[in-house]
Amino acid sequence: MAIVYTTSSDGVDWTRLKAALAEDHFDNGRTAAQMERSFRASYRCVYALDGDRVVGTARALSDGVCNAYIVDMWTQSSYRRRGIGRRMLELLCQALKGQHVYLFTDDQQDFYAACGFSQRGAGLERIVGRWLENEG
Ligand SMILES: CC(C)(COP(=O)(O)OP(=O)(O)OC[C@H]1O[C@@H](n2cnc3c(N)ncnc32)[C@H](O)[C@@H]1OP(=O)(O)O)[C@@H](O)C(=O)NCCC(=O)NCCS
Repeated sequence: MAIVYTTSSDGVDWTRLKAALAEDHFDNGRTAAQMERSFRASYRCVYALDGDRVVGTARALSDGVCNAYIVDMWTQSSYRRRGIGRRMLELLCQALKGQHVYLFTDDQQDFYAACGFSQRGAGLERIVGRWLENEG
């Protein structure tokens, strides 16, 4: 079946998506409700669908003017190296024209470089309080 791309979060089964991420060792600990809240609060989301199953995600946080940040970039293991990640990034970036788009990666530099990103500066981080210690 052909992969279909959508920017709509409606119809996403968040419990099923969390299970797929966990199975792929890419679950960062959010509950299904927290996951939905974080995606819905994003500037733009892209989902890759195989039928009614989400097999890829990408989302961007943005001020809509000059700065954006990409997170939750994921293609399910058995669907990798078919151009799905690249397509999701393209669809995200279409909504980010004129903006400086930043992201952090531990080990996927080659993928992002293949998609036109280059290294600049150093990523710094701080977790305020305890990870995921917030409502929901
Ligand atoms: C990173 C990730 C999203 C890439 O998704 P994908 O759908 O496989 O990517 P694509 O097929 O669109 O790859 C596009 C190009 O990126 C490069 N690329 C992708 N994965 C690569 C890898 N593991 N090693 C080297 N190059 C890679 C290749 O040049 C590829 O083109 P090619 O297949 O024609 O050679 C996927 O590997 C993934 O979900 N990884 C686990 C989660 C993760 O680490 N996400 C990033 C967090 S920052």
